[in-house]
Amino acid sequence: MAQKSIRFGVIGCGLMGREFASSAARWLHLNDAPARPEIVAVCDTDTRLMDWFGEHVPSVTQKTADYRELLANRDVDAVYCAVPHVLHAEIYPQIIAAGKHFLGEKPFGMDLEQNRIIQTALDANPDALVRCSSEMPFFPGAQRVMELARSGEMGEILEVEASFLHSSDIDPNKVINWKRIETINGNYGCMGDLGMHVLHIPLRLGWRPDQVSASLVKRVSQRPNAQGDMVACNTWDNATITANVPHKGYEFPMVLKTWRISPGDSNSWSLRILGMKKSAFFSTKNPRQWQWMNYESGGDQVWQVQDLGYQSLFPAITGGIFEFGFADAIQQMWAAFLHELAGGNANGFHCATPQEASDHHAILTAALQAGLSRQTVRVDYAGATS
Ligand SMILES: NC(=O)c1ccc[n+]([C@@H]2O[C@H](COP(=O)([O-])OP(=O)(O)OC[C@H]3O[C@@H](n4cnc5c(N)ncnc54)[C@H](O)[C@@H]3O)[C@@H](O)[C@H]2O)c1
Repeated sequence: MAQKSIRFGVIGCGLMGREFASSAARWLHLNDAPARPEIVAVCDTDTRLMDWFGEHVPSVTQKTADYRELLANRDVDAVYCAVPHVLHAEIYPQIIAAGKHFLGEKPFGMDLEQNRIIQTALDANPDALVRCSSEMPFFPGAQRVMELARSGEMGEILEVEASFLHSSDIDPNKVINWKRIETINGNYGCMGDLGMHVLHIPLRLGWRPDQVSASLVKRVSQRPNAQGDMVACNTWDNATITANVPHKGYEFPMVLKTWRISPGDSNSWSLRILGMKKSAFFSTKNPRQWQWMNYESGGDQVWQVQDLGYQSLFPAITGGIFEFGFADAIQQMWAAFLHELAGGNANGFHCATPQEASDHHAILTAALQAGLSRQTVRVDYAGATS
């Protein structure tokens, strides 16, 4: 079957915009992909970043600092947008209204109110495929943990812990960027940066907390700017959310950690699900392994460890014994989006949906309120969707 080409425009050519370009450039890595991305247009207010695309992506024919010009380009079928959070509510609705298929970066609006603006645009334009970025669940070990949970064989759930831990902000001399400025990143702070990553699989499994409490940590309140002057660093550093999940007539606790200061963790995403019959764990610290335990009454309690290697959701040329990494997870996420664009089912695990993004806003909004008030707060899902 001929591989379909889908022409993309990229708005925001920074860290994540270039990750997409890299994935697209090595699309030959994937076996039997029904569609491939071709980046034809780029937009950034920083022309040096667009020059990088001009140099490395020969298919680019449009470079513009105005995203409206990119959206008016009829050669653009689909858009990837990776811009600071404060711009999501301005740009995402215009992408949606332009009728382009769209993968938008999380958190899909920097707060609940701005997420609602995006949701309203989606309700008015339901035809295009729209998804929210979240790549870590595409690690093979994460997929195994999720499959086990989906199988129903884990018995009653005791606890779920989902974490995304960074550590570079432990350095008080790290130069501030927009991710540490509340007016640009949003008042969720670290939760807005990392929350979709930890909630993607729980929400996909139907684990929707009904109430949350949260401990919010603020340790570094000033940082140097690019000129060396100390300026306010006012976003939350770390958040630990304890959620209560009603599930099949009982309840279990779910702990969500979104930390920007976790000593020693460069980008550690993990998921631990403990059940009465089976338990499972995966962390990107050991990217090729997953762990699980089977238990029967009176039996031994023995955790097993398996090297999975490169057993990806979307088949690739890499040998199964080799390691899977961040750039692979990004490419698998894109493979899921392209698979759906070509009419497929994303091999059973599609990218995060706008509804899941909206639900995650409901949870983070409650968590922020809980952390500030030091009280348990109910999650209002109805208020999060239009
Ligand atoms: N999925 C992930 O793992 C992951 C990781 C990091 C960031 N992100 C998300 O990606 C998004 C961008 O983050 P980043 O790390 O790439 O940031 P970045 O600062 O590296 O890139 C953002 C880019 O947007 C550009 N920009 C700003 N205003 C613009 C405008 N009006 N029009 C066009 N371009 C504009 C900036 O010049 C910059 O190049 C955020 O939503 C963030 O949460 C996701």
